[in-house]
Amino acid sequence: MEDINASIGFDKKLWRQDIQGSLAHAAMLGKVGVISAEDVVSISDGLKSIAAEIEAGGFPFTTALEDIHMNIEARLTERIGEAGKRLHTGRSRNDQVATDFRLWVRDAIDGIAIQITGLMRALAERAAAHAADPMPGFTHLQTAQPVTFGHHLLAYVEMLDRDRGRLADARRRLNVSPLGAAALAGTSFPIDRAMTAATLGFDRPAANSLDAVSDRDFALEFLSAAAIGAMHLSRFAEEIVIWCSAPYRFIRLSDAFTTGSSIMPQKRNPDAAELVRAKTGRMTGALVALLTVMKGLPLAYAKDMQEDKEPVFDSAESWALSLAATTGMVCDMTPDIARMRKFAGSGFATATDLADWLVRVLKLPFRSAHHITGTLVGIAEKKGIDLAGLTLAEMREVEPGITAEVFSVLTVDASVASRTSLGGTAPANVAREAAGWLAVLA
Ligand code: ARG
Repeated sequence: MEDINASIGFDKKLWRQDIQGSLAHAAMLGKVGVISAEDVVSISDGLKSIAAEIEAGGFPFTTALEDIHMNIEARLTERIGEAGKRLHTGRSRNDQVATDFRLWVRDAIDGIAIQITGLMRALAERAAAHAADPMPGFTHLQTAQPVTFGHHLLAYVEMLDRDRGRLADARRRLNVSPLGAAALAGTSFPIDRAMTAATLGFDRPAANSLDAVSDRDFALEFLSAAAIGAMHLSRFAEEIVIWCSAPYRFIRLSDAFTTGSSIMPQKRNPDAAELVRAKTGRMTGALVALLTVMKGLPLAYAKDMQEDKEPVFDSAESWALSLAATTGMVCDMTPDIARMRKFAGSGFATATDLADWLVRVLKLPFRSAHHITGTLVGIAEKKGIDLAGLTLAEMREVEPGITAEVFSVLTVDASVASRTSLGGTAPANVAREAAGWLAVLA
């Protein structure tokens, strides 16, 4: 029973929040006259000395006392006697754990949001530096049209901004206080829930005591934001893995973020990126795990909910680690601009520019222009050359209206420079966007 019942092995992580919650609760009990002012002082002093003891690593955690709440409360009574036994008046471990866990998740949200902002800044700085450097843009991982490296990096800044938004949104709904809901029905003591809510930085007390002790939406919303955030980081990690591979060599990572092979001396394995890519698995698993725990639970508290913590702790740690590693790689990577530029122009990447020129200058309908361009691509492909390698005569055989002016749109620089539509990859757009982000993120 002790083995399956105890949560102290993992919920000791909540010790700061547990003490914070108990300090608020004790002060409130004193204020409304449920306990004496002297008791408040000795409880507060006792809790603070326990905090110091835990901090110093000397606290005697025991599974016999099940969880962090009972471990701390028992220790308090050991230290201060009778007053310690009055702390639990007008509350239950059900509202206590719900409060502690909310406080922990709120801290995690705030920490992760700062890390995301740091990664956004690192990406925006590199984007500003490479606003005009072309690289191949892909769809289906097939060369599609040239884009700039800066534009590509800023796409991730947009994703990360949504991740921050999801956290901010989750935090708003999280920030109500379950404390004082007691076991499930409220309490007969004249407690002041608004006071404890304010002390703990919550916006208000939760309105329904049954909901207050059994709601874990805040944990699920955090896990869901984490799963989506991890999915974003895994997409970027996968691009790093691809860009580092020998046939691509778009970027190089230093020894700081790669490992060597014990047998193949030429290897620089992007292990950090691969692990960021892989963390998505456990983080998605954590969301599914808690959704499955909560599904079908009748009101109010049930011990099933003790299983809410490990997935959240693990996901928060994985997210923090992945963000740190990704930010490190963004600062570390050395892009091979010349090589990216070279491949930006290969694979008939400017075929769309040719088609657009036929529409703009010769006033052909787009479908006809698409067909003519396809024919020209076929001819160039057969000859093993790029579109710009075709002679004017060869082009005119397919479409007599074509003039030498067409060659000016077939270069990579002309292609990216022409994409001036809102959100497009034109260097001027990218430079402006990067500067805008850097101003916001400063
Ligand atoms: N360790 C428990 C948890 O994490 C604390 C609440 C226990 N409540 C109870 N009525 N047994 O959920």
